[in-house]
Amino acid sequence: AQEPVQVTVTEDAEAPIISKHIYGHFSEHLGRCIYGGLYVGEESMVPNTAGVRNDIIEALKELKIPNLRWPGGCFADTYHWKDGVGPKDERPTMVNRWWGGVTEDNSFGTHDFLNLCETLNAEPYLAANVGSSTVKEFTEYVEYVLHQGGSPMAEWRKENGRENPWDVKYWGVGNEMWGCGGNMTAEHYADIYRQYATFMTDWTNSDGLFRIASGANVDDYHWTEVLMRDIPKHLIEGVALHSYSFVEWNEKGSSIDYSEEQYFSTMKTALKMDTLVTKHSAIMDKYDPNNTIALVVDEWGGWYDVMEGTNPGFLYQQNTMRDAMIAGTSLNIFNNHARRVKMANLAQTVNVLQAVVLTEDEKMLLTPTYHVMKMYNVHQDAKLLPVDFDSPTYKFEGEELPAISISASKTDAGQVNVSMVNIDAHKSHTVEINLGDMDIKDFSGTILSSEDLQDHNTFDQPEKITPKELKKVKFRKGILEVEVPPFSVLVVTGK
Ligand code: AHR
Repeated sequence: AQEPVQVTVTEDAEAPIISKHIYGHFSEHLGRCIYGGLYVGEESMVPNTAGVRNDIIEALKELKIPNLRWPGGCFADTYHWKDGVGPKDERPTMVNRWWGGVTEDNSFGTHDFLNLCETLNAEPYLAANVGSSTVKEFTEYVEYVLHQGGSPMAEWRKENGRENPWDVKYWGVGNEMWGCGGNMTAEHYADIYRQYATFMTDWTNSDGLFRIASGANVDDYHWTEVLMRDIPKHLIEGVALHSYSFVEWNEKGSSIDYSEEQYFSTMKTALKMDTLVTKHSAIMDKYDPNNTIALVVDEWGGWYDVMEGTNPGFLYQQNTMRDAMIAGTSLNIFNNHARRVKMANLAQTVNVLQAVVLTEDEKMLLTPTYHVMKMYNVHQDAKLLPVDFDSPTYKFEGEELPAISISASKTDAGQVNVSMVNIDAHKSHTVEINLGDMDIKDFSGTILSSEDLQDHNTFDQPEKITPKELKKVKFRKGILEVEVPPFSVLVVTGK
């Protein structure tokens, strides 16, 4: 019989708070994420509020999404915000050059997005255009959104139906500036960033703008080094990082029909997030020892081939237990690095990449990733409890990965949450968690698991995979004992 995995959870007064913004999302003008997904228009037969599907609004509220990033992605640096405000029938069209070359009518614009965020009680994260914009266009955007009144942009906003400014704290200063944002060098972008950030004014005088520099692609440590070295601290609050999980970038494979070998490779790239975050954080520590600048992983998730018969530019893929494994392990990594990682955005919310919601006409389903995000929302704004353990390995054809991933937190009310993932495709593991003398009376929990790794929810069977109550949680003398089946995610909560 296998030895149980021994885990020690400790309370550390110095441990960081797990920012709720780690549980953020990302919606780009890409495929059916906005048009034909989230946004169906006010005339649609699908029940909606100001054109946004009510079922999606409800699902996202349930998820407690803390923030939403928009309008891109690569789209952001092609987007001219003025084309998306004012009477809808007078707005110009545009061609979405990155994603399928489709013509968009600009009917979903800044008002629609920011009002949606208010409905969702989520903070907007505007990724604004630098690559094909000007400082003037950019600063007028800030003025339009944030200035109270008496400025040309604020008056125009009022004419367009919004009297008071919105409360927008998070601003992305371009996206992927090393690639689709302009193919810049880090040195060139750092200068451009300084220029744009200088003219961004927090007109509301609330608690200040949070300006996020377009960050590194995966392990481009030079990029982070240059931004941290060359951008003065008073101009920057966050540095981004993008990293996706896949089998191989040039041979991604199917989202549903994959082998164990492909699963193993995907998990290898997903778990690499730990190294990436560790190394980018170390560079940031060097230039910012007081930890005033956040690492913002504003694009992460699984990326596979599109579903057969769908537009290759629309990035529509299904979502299986493999995605639940990516979500569970990535969120544990972010939680455990909460000192520096203060925001993250899963790509993308609806019908694109590792979506939490899929739609087909009037039907909607929640993916396994949705369920993991919801199970984990107990960690939002809770204090990290550091965990210590040696993981057993998941072996495949001579290679191995750590099978078990864990993070833990404690809320202000004293509730202790432990989230666990076992990525092993075959073996179950018993986990014994020593909570020392924490004053907990009882534990309850939920589990997300399924018979086959490739299982997923479909429009005919939308509830094939849903979280179930965890029956066997043993808690005696400060030790919590749980069985973690192959490819499952568990969250246990003690009070
Ligand atoms: O999320 C899809 C694309 O991936 C984004 O537009 C871009 O930023 C990244 O390369």
